[in-house]
Amino acid sequence: MLLLLGPACHSERPAPSPSASAPATETRPAAHRDDDASRAAFLVAYPVFMHPRCMNCHPASDVPLQGDDSHPHAQNVKRGPDGRGLYALKCADCHQEANLPGANMPPGNPNWHLPPPQMRMVFQGKTSVELARQLKDPSQTGGRTLDQIIIHVSEDKLVLGAWDPGEGRAPPPLSHAEFAQKMREWANKGAAVPE
Ligand code: HEC
Ligand code: HEC
Repeated sequence: MLLLLGPACHSERPAPSPSASAPATETRPAAHRDDDASRAAFLVAYPVFMHPRCMNCHPASDVPLQGDDSHPHAQNVKRGPDGRGLYALKCADCHQEANLPGANMPPGNPNWHLPPPQMRMVFQGKTSVELARQLKDPSQTGGRTLDQIIIHVSEDKLVLGAWDPGEGRAPPPLSHAEFAQKMREWANKGAAVPE
């Protein structure tokens, strides 16, 4: 899995000088910039964000979504002040460290929660244009740079869990390797916003 993180573009990058503090996006070699290819890569990756395995935790409201039809979460579960549930009803009460066996059992993952209310990171209802802009805007990603977003979609356990979703739930449309590769290509070729 870690092999995915070693694209040729990165190794060609000059070592940062001690004073280099510019955002990673600006240090990408201009020669790699290709807006059309960048956009095309994003449009291949986009359906993964819109898939229930990702969108159900990135809802437009404060209620997580459930199932392949993305219906509102049962038991009146809400985001809460830290994304981990409102009042006594905490995500971890039902969502364990690993998937529980059986149909309609809670999927598990250490750290199962929604993004917090100050940084909702909504995917539900976003067009490809809106989503690309959001991912490039650190004020909407919790201060993550584009490089950090790429690492997140390549390695984060909640992201990887989408491909091991538990009984009765479909995985996202691309393989994880292909998804991570398309996101890296999008970023490396200039993170162009679809038109
Ligand atoms: C269990 C809920 C959950 C699932 C499932 C989930 N995420 Fe997330 N996601 C989160 C949380 C929580 C954060 C914020 C994490 C943080 O700040 O450390 C986050 C953050 C992100 C971010 C970074 C910030 C941003 O701007 O959006 C991206 C990108 C992302 N998720 C993509 C995905 C993708 C792609 C999938 C599916 C393959 C997915 N997530 C599935 C909960 C989830
Ligand atoms: C009372 C138990 C309970 C609590 C508390 C709970 N969940 Fe769930 N959750 C479930 C069950 C059970 C399922 C599976 C439902 C099914 O498949 O029919 C589920 C499914 C989900 C799904 C759908 C996963 C997918 O891939 O479709 C998401 C997202 C989710 N929960 C998020 C949360 C979040 C976030 C919290 C805390 C804010 C939370 N849940 C709190 C029991 C709970």
